[in-house]
Amino acid sequence: MNLFDVYPTNDIIISKAKGSYVWDDKGEQYLDLYGGHAVISIGHTHPHWVQRIEDQLERIAFYSNSIKIPLQQQLAEKLGKISGKKDYQLFLCNSGAEANENALKLASFHNGRKKIVAFSKAFHGRTSLAVSATDNKNYIAPVNETDNVIFLPYNDEAALEDCFAKIGEEISAVIIEGIQGVGGINVASNSFLKKIRTLCDECGAVYIADSVQCGYGRSGKFFSHDFAGVNADIYTMAKGMGNGFPVAGIIIAPHIKPKHFQLGTTFGGNHLACAATLPCWK
Ligand SMILES: Cc1ncc(COP(=O)(O)O)c(C=O)c1O
Repeated sequence: MNLFDVYPTNDIIISKAKGSYVWDDKGEQYLDLYGGHAVISIGHTHPHWVQRIEDQLERIAFYSNSIKIPLQQQLAEKLGKISGKKDYQLFLCNSGAEANENALKLASFHNGRKKIVAFSKAFHGRTSLAVSATDNKNYIAPVNETDNVIFLPYNDEAALEDCFAKIGEEISAVIIEGIQGVGGINVASNSFLKKIRTLCDECGAVYIADSVQCGYGRSGKFFSHDFAGVNADIYTMAKGMGNGFPVAGIIIAPHIKPKHFQLGTTFGGNHLACAATLPCWK
């Protein structure tokens, strides 16, 4: 069998990694400024991270969300403290796209609406709704095409106001990267994020802060959206959460109430995933 050839790879085999360095299979050392697409948050094979995962492996690696997993509560408390969003609620999943899927779905459950506002050059992931809200035709299969996503120019307050004036009551969510990653390093202005907050409040829409790439302390604040001084209703996270272990999550403002079975995942928040995430903060 061959691999399904979707990745244009660099001609290098990384066989060892420690801290900020990686080594190829010939022993050549490199300073890793890339971190595997913004994933390595505390350094490769950090000793605390390795130890915590090893300890957990000896006890239990996985069980599903049909039982209590106290590690998840520990994680939620730590995340509440470090992010400053203590009263938010945590839902754990496995990838950035899945986090955005859940955020968009939850927004729609919450207000019963269908329209999503996304922005030019946005990247929100490769799956169903996440890719529909991604501004790149090459990633969108015919089955992902939908009239429910409206793309507006990034940082254009007049265009946003105009859209809300016309169809504000139909808008379920506005999803925005605080700093665009895949689309180039484009920074959302504070006044644009404030405008999103105001318009969402006025019309009952949900403000979703895609913090998969720009969140988790990568900008100087825990979420880059925080620079605007207003809260989003849902923050999505992934990448650096588990320092390479696949972990993702969304945090949800208290006014959005959970219902059993509304969201779910087999692997999300399993013991090993939590054990990999907890040592990423001191
Ligand atoms: C802003 C943003 N959202 C979502 C995603 C999707 O994350 P994942 O590849 O973990 O599904 C990415 C990935 O690069 C991203 O940069």
